[in-house]
Amino acid sequence: MLQRSVGLIITLILGMALAATGGQAGGHSLDILDSKASAYNQEVGHLLRWVLGFAAVVFVVVTGAMTYITLKFRRTGKETGEPAQFHGNDRLEVMWTIIPTIIVFIIFGLTANSMFKLDKPSPGAMTVDVKGWRYFWDYNYPEYGIRNSGELIVPVGKPLILNVTSGDVIHSYRITSMVGTQDAIPGLINHIRVTPEKVGDYYGQCAELCGPSHANMRFRVKVVPQEVFDKFIAEAKAYQAPIPTDPTLVKGEILFKANCAACHAIKGVSQGAPNYPDLTFFGSRTTVGSGMWENKSPYLENWIKNSPGVKPGSLMPAFPQLSDSDVKTIAAYLLSHKLEGLDFNFPNSQKY
Ligand code: CUA
Repeated sequence: MLQRSVGLIITLILGMALAATGGQAGGHSLDILDSKASAYNQEVGHLLRWVLGFAAVVFVVVTGAMTYITLKFRRTGKETGEPAQFHGNDRLEVMWTIIPTIIVFIIFGLTANSMFKLDKPSPGAMTVDVKGWRYFWDYNYPEYGIRNSGELIVPVGKPLILNVTSGDVIHSYRITSMVGTQDAIPGLINHIRVTPEKVGDYYGQCAELCGPSHANMRFRVKVVPQEVFDKFIAEAKAYQAPIPTDPTLVKGEILFKANCAACHAIKGVSQGAPNYPDLTFFGSRTTVGSGMWENKSPYLENWIKNSPGVKPGSLMPAFPQLSDSDVKTIAAYLLSHKLEGLDFNFPNSQKY
């Protein structure tokens, strides 16, 4: 009993400390209760306060009763024979059944209320199809006919419906400090309804064990002002892959076509395959290796040269046959594919 109470105290203290401070990942604050990020977090925070309140009352009553009973009925040395034998206390038993039942129903009611509130259809919502593959996330904007891999770009203040599914095994989509987890299951579409309420750079993570690089199946969500998003859509829709004239980029395209094009799509250059990241606006991406590293030297070159070496289980093979200079040339070629006038690196904005 004592062990259990100590365990409960530690759990409560840890829970409260975690809720108060939030975790950290790569400079991103992972605060699941950041009430300004989304209505989802507000509801979760609201429910957590109720649950912690009830837990505190139960804790005080149970440990209080335990302390009282232990002291009152302790061995005094004056006992003679057996203590009084009796059946129990019916009134007490009814009370300790009814009160927890009422608490459970209150928590159920509050939770159902929050769920209905969050699941309300949002008129004018933008749909994004989200598909998990080992080990990256792929995004399609069906209303605009745009595909992007690795990073989700969305406008602030606009309701979103994310249709989450998987192309291979079960993954789980989690934008840590914005909205809770939704499983990505092959052949099934799960919905996340959320309205991002703060501009920023959000950390995301696969939340279902899916293979050796599960922990490395990360992503970024870029919540941008509406005008930046409109520019992104306009640029992406009109995007034409640049025709290389610079000798390095000419060589880069030849190397890309010979080594990468069978898997990776670049609109206007290669078809690729659906289960590999689209690289059409690769130069506008801020991360490489599905949110693992910043999209720059030497990470990009290390990634191209030996992907499974830096990310265990990566389905992209290593390219030991490519010289360092060839790898650099491919990297330069990939980076030349970018949306003009758009920069999704927000050096001064908050990272969530
Ligand atoms: Cu995908 Cu874990």
